[in-house]
Amino acid sequence: MSLRSSDRRWGSVAKFFHWIIALGILGNGLFGLLMDLASSPMQKINWLALHKSIGLTVLALVLLRIAWRWTDRRPAEEPAPRWQQLAAHAAHGALYVLIVLLPLSGWWFNSVTGKPLQWFKLFNLPALAQKNDALRDFAHGVHEYLFWFLILVLVAHVGGALKHHLLDHDNTLRRMLPFGRLRAPPASEGDSR
Ligand code: HEM
Ligand code: HEM
Repeated sequence: MSLRSSDRRWGSVAKFFHWIIALGILGNGLFGLLMDLASSPMQKINWLALHKSIGLTVLALVLLRIAWRWTDRRPAEEPAPRWQQLAAHAAHGALYVLIVLLPLSGWWFNSVTGKPLQWFKLFNLPALAQKNDALRDFAHGVHEYLFWFLILVLVAHVGGALKHHLLDHDNTLRRMLPFGRLRAPPASEGDSR
């Protein structure tokens, strides 16, 4: 399997970034929502520190992903009506923006509450803004609602992927899956792998 993407499929680096970031965003979002289940204030502080460190790791991976995407290509479009291709591109663009803004909004929220920020207890990170009690609830809301907005876009994104797979029977999902084998092309187009 090639590191770089080709005309027919995503390369292993693009796939790695896609799936590890999807897991990181969804797992850490769920973790954020469940944080109130902590059995003591100390446990909540520890969970929150973990949530922030995972979120910062996701942010670093997203920036690396964008840098990689800059130099990589993307496979050619599978046949679909033009409006669907445009909608898919719009959803991809929105997802890229949201996966940058979501961890950044958490960092900003943490900053206006005046709390320190560490990455897995290894080093400190600076605040993005000064402590500001007036902005606290707003910043919390921005962080939380960005997550729900991402989920909304994701429903369309996953719906589109499943529609390609189950109704159109094309390679859109298969070529993004870690070990997906491509469906054979029409006879004249050559090898399927
Ligand atoms: C938080 C979760 C996810 C995020 C943030 C996300 C984001 C993205 C982005 C930004 C792209 C565009 C890649 C590019 O053009 O560089 C993409 C492609 C893709 N995603 Fe996701 N994704 C997520 C979850 C999923 C899930 C759960 C599925 C499967 C059901 C999926 C299936 C796909 C497929 C098949 C493509 C390739 C589309 C194509 O080749 O045109 N994604 N994803
Ligand atoms: C993968 C990236 C991230 C996702 C998906 C995410 C998602 C969430 C969600 C869904 C919540 C629950 C909101 C609520 O109901 O109160 C939350 C809470 C929170 N997040 Fe994040 N977050 C991410 C990264 C970060 C980062 C990088 C930081 C800080 C540097 C951060 C700081 C916080 C804080 C302080 C809370 C409030 C917890 C509480 O007081 O209950 N998050 N996050």
